This record gives sequence, structure tokens and C-alpha cells, in this order.
Amino acid sequence: MAAPVKISSVFRPNLFKGKVAIVTGGGTGIGKAITQELLFLGCKVMIASRKLDRLSKSAEILRSQITNNSAKLEHMQCNIRQEDQVKELISTTVSKFDKLDFLVNNGGGQFPSVAEDIKLKGWNAVIETNLTGTFLCCREAYNQWMGEHGGVIVNIIADMWKGFPMMSHTGAARAAVDNLTKSLAIEWASHGVRINSVAPGSSIYSDTAAANYGSQDIFNMNIPGVPAKRLGTVEEVSAAVCFLLSPAASFISGETVKVDAGASLYSTIWKIPDHNKIPAYKWETDNAGCNDEEDGTKSKL
Ligand code: ADE
Repeated sequence: MAAPVKISSVFRPNLFKGKVAIVTGGGTGIGKAITQELLFLGCKVMIASRKLDRLSKSAEILRSQITNNSAKLEHMQCNIRQEDQVKELISTTVSKFDKLDFLVNNGGGQFPSVAEDIKLKGWNAVIETNLTGTFLCCREAYNQWMGEHGGVIVNIIADMWKGFPMMSHTGAARAAVDNLTKSLAIEWASHGVRINSVAPGSSIYSDTAAANYGSQDIFNMNIPGVPAKRLGTVEEVSAAVCFLLSPAASFISGETVKVDAGASLYSTIWKIPDHNKIPAYKWETDNAGCNDEEDGTKSKL
């Protein structure tokens, strides 16, 4: 028999007793760790995902792990790309739990590809999931509950600070969410809404992601570029999310916390081959058409 999973937290017991949260993508990976810690701290949590089968199985396991009497877990299918389903997610949560204190926008998805090969359909799918889906969840949480009662939102983004080669679609979407976070922090402050982002590094190891990739090598590749010289844990991301949701962060809004041990400051694994395809610009060799009088040609500008 497998040993029982030990769930813990650095935060005080019952910190989130009486609180209600939605965690999109809350059944797997980083989202699962966030859900486990929220439940451990006494929160009532609604997890939502596009694939009901997988979500129901995760929900059953998560329910069996609950140790806090105040905690409760509900789950429901929701494709965050569909406006009507997002509206339903928020309204169902509010009617089941009578309120909505926290929204964690963790659901997302992408596929690796060089930019020139990304088809419009794939591009749109990634933008709609990671940017539009997050926007819809924020907007509906605000319109249906938080605009009147306040609340706290955390958006999970990514390490795209130096661009995101091979993942340009998600890099663009996550950078947009970083900016959306700032706009909403200002627009909704007077309604008692705080909103921040957490940006996990690519070195965060999760069993779900490892199973998706079919190997751990893709994670280990990152270690030389991580100042801590190790992979990060989902618990380290969850702790940052719980901090931002908690009153300890009551004076923090519109901010993004990187959970990457400084890796985004340090290095990139992307290598550019040697080439001479970007020649220097110099006046003496320039023939861009500014010397009309000398060579008798007309400027193209
Ligand atoms: N996780 C990945 N894609 C999703 C989607 N479209 N809706 C909800 N959760 C998701």
C-alpha cells in the first residue's frame, strides 16, 4: 500500500478557514499543490478543468486527503476558453459556497514549436487558453462577486522574461497576463480586489509535467542555469500563492513574484549558432538610399 501523502504548510493552521477559492487546473501539477495547501489551511475549494474524467479522479484523491474540518472540495468541468462555461463556473461556486474570496488562474496549456511552424489555429488556442481564459475568469469573478465584496486573485504565468523561444505563443500570452494583472490591480483596487501574478521557473518539477513529457531529462537540463543548482518544487510555488492570498500580502497588488531561484536573471539555455546574417550598420558602407546627389538615385524612403 502506498504511504499516505503528507501535506503541510508554513502558514498557520486554519489561515483560510471560512474562505472560498476557485483554482483552475487545480487537479494536477502546480494547481494540485495549491489546492492541497488551501484545503490544509481550511479553505473551501472549487477546482475546474476541461477534462472531467481526469478532474473527477483527482478530486476523489484530494477529498480523501482532507484533514481540516472546515475544508471542502468541489469540482466541475469548465473550458476557460468558453465564456458561458466560465460564467457557470463562477455562479455555481458562489451558489454552492455562498461567496468567492480567492481566484487562482492556474489552468493553461501550450505546445513546443518554432514560431514559423505555429498554425493560426494553434496560436489562437494558446492565446485563448492562457490569456483570454484568464481574463474571462477574472472578469466573471469580479462581475459576479468580487466587484461588490472584494477578493484576491493570483494569476500563474511563466518565465518569459527573456522571451520564450519554442513557446512564443505562451510567452506572448503570459506577458500579456503580467500586464493585465497591473491594469486590473488599478481598475479594481477601490472595490477591494487585489491581484498579483506568480511566475514559476521552467525548473519547477511536477509529476504531472514529467508524465506529460515522458521523462525527467527535460527538467534536469535546466539545473545548470538555476542559481540554487536544483529543481524547484510545486510546494515552493504554492507557498508564494498562499502568501499573496493571505493578509500578509494586503499591501501588495499588481505585482509578479518569480519563483525561480533567480534563474531568469542568470542564464538562458537557448543557444544561437554562430552566423553573420546581421551585418553592422556603418555610414561608410551604407547604401540605403540617402546619397541621392552623389549616385544620382532617388531615396526609397
Ligand atoms: N487547462 C488547460 N486548458 C484548459 C482549458 N481550456 N480550460 C480549463 N482548463 C484548462
